[in-house]
Amino acid sequence: MATHANNFRNLKNFAPVFAIAFYLKFKGNYKYMSVILALESSCDETSASVLKDGKILTNIISNQLIHSKYGGVVPEFASRAHQRNIAAVTQQAIEDSGIKTEDISAVAYTQGPGLAGSLLVAAMFAKGFALSRNIPLIGVDHLHAHIMANFIDDPKPSFPCLCLLVSGGHTQIIHLTDYLEMEIIGNTIDDAAGEAFDKGAKIMGLPYPGGPSIDLLAKSGNPKAFHFPTPKIPGYHFSFSGLKTSLLYKIRDELKKDPDFLEKNKADLCASFQHRIVTYLSEKLLLASKDTGIKEICLAGGVAANSGLRNTLMLLAQKQGWNLYVPAFQFCTDNAAMIAIAAYFRLMKGNFSSPEENIYANYRKSVK
Ligand code: KG4
Ligand code: ZN
Repeated sequence: MATHANNFRNLKNFAPVFAIAFYLKFKGNYKYMSVILALESSCDETSASVLKDGKILTNIISNQLIHSKYGGVVPEFASRAHQRNIAAVTQQAIEDSGIKTEDISAVAYTQGPGLAGSLLVAAMFAKGFALSRNIPLIGVDHLHAHIMANFIDDPKPSFPCLCLLVSGGHTQIIHLTDYLEMEIIGNTIDDAAGEAFDKGAKIMGLPYPGGPSIDLLAKSGNPKAFHFPTPKIPGYHFSFSGLKTSLLYKIRDELKKDPDFLEKNKADLCASFQHRIVTYLSEKLLLASKDTGIKEICLAGGVAANSGLRNTLMLLAQKQGWNLYVPAFQFCTDNAAMIAIAAYFRLMKGNFSSPEENIYANYRKSVK
């Protein structure tokens, strides 16, 4: 690692030369060389994928179980687990794809946003791979990749379309006019939808990650049993922190009257809490669709795996005449296939990254 770091520091001065050299070297060839190895390590999943000519061949994901013990992701453990897993996960993705390593024509990695120590693992591995094999490098924005997961399988959305991006760190409504052209028209002002699920689950003593735990219990509960208020935030923006607090206060007050309240009502609490999040998300999406007149609607991010959200949006789509696109489960939560498909669209435009570009931990407004 230290050797790589020094090499990159020395290479930094040559950034413009690299950019021009990459451009000249691969100019015009990129349309014929689309075997991409993609790596993802932004949070607690180590993943590698191989894509050929726009089709995903493999998507290997290694989950890190250690975090459930702590009720959330521990950044240092995540980074160490990525370092242990990245080589094996990559090797499996290449072997299972049937592609020879020498036929890989570009390597993509998640550049950000995410946990810095985690992002660095795939970034350094990808840079080493690209430099040693003399192939182009593509740094991919994680949120852009979540959206692009909608373009992995058929049928694919057409432009313009609206995307509801709901993950552990973000809740946005995005207006897309092309693969690389998009505008965020709605955003959360505090917590993300996934965070609301995770924090809500923690309050109810459910295991991390909270989304799947609540989703499962909600199936046997009554969504109308408890009422949780939704904040009045203008336009297509969201707020989730008040919802989490109202769950906390509800449980605290009821436990004073009945110490077994939580155990007796867990399924109903989960169903009602999930129902409130799902209704809130759907109402905002409907408003954006009505205002823009766009009926091509897609869903992205880990919370897109939520069965309540999927069902509600399917019913809404029937009623509103939407064409609704939802990625397969394995492409909703963090995975490298979505990095590969996002990189593919960048590759088609000859849009490469220079090896001296750094990772970024925080969210960027524009897709690069
Ligand atoms: O997209 P993702 O894998 O990682 C981020 O980029 O944040 O999203 C993770 C989030 C977590 O908050 C997790 O609880 C939530 O997605 N999630 C779910 C479900 N599966 C994952 N939330 C609700 N229902 C689910 N079935
Ligand atoms: Zn994600």
